[in-house]
Amino acid sequence: MSIDLTRRKFLGRIWKAGAALIAAAGAWTTWDLLQPLATSGFGGKVRTVSPAAVPDTGVVEVLAAKSHLVKIDGELIALSEKCTHLGCRVPFCESSNRFECPCHGSVFNRAGEVLSGPSPRGLDRHPIEVREDGLVYIDTGTKTEGASPGTETIDEPSTGPACAEEDHG
Ligand code: FES
Repeated sequence: MSIDLTRRKFLGRIWKAGAALIAAAGAWTTWDLLQPLATSGFGGKVRTVSPAAVPDTGVVEVLAAKSHLVKIDGELIALSEKCTHLGCRVPFCESSNRFECPCHGSVFNRAGEVLSGPSPRGLDRHPIEVREDGLVYIDTGTKTEGASPGTETIDEPSTGPACAEEDHG
């Protein structure tokens, strides 16, 4: 009889331990599913480079974020490369030190402010954060709209010839 009781107790404990494990696994899975998605592609937070890798002049293009990282007076900003006119991709022109839209000729300074052309505002900006791994993350899921034409917060003259074609007629 005592052997039978011991066996029952043992099996009961095994059963409880198994149930506890299943409950713990379920709780872990639920917690994990509720965590924000660590998206790494466009539409989420895109991991890029260290802040030191962004030069004081020029830009760093981040293809996965469809953006450029720019350092203005020591402050990092992420500029969307989508033109605010009709959405063409706006590359940076090294020779002129300007963003130049190849579609209809909008020109933006290195801070993304519109200098000329039909764009109704400057290039939009995505929030950035520097995480514990020391890298800059661009949040491509949100943006703030670029400034109205006429806003110029930096004084960087053009450094040379434009890259885009002049005739947009
Ligand atoms: S799409 Fe860039 S100027 Fe029209």
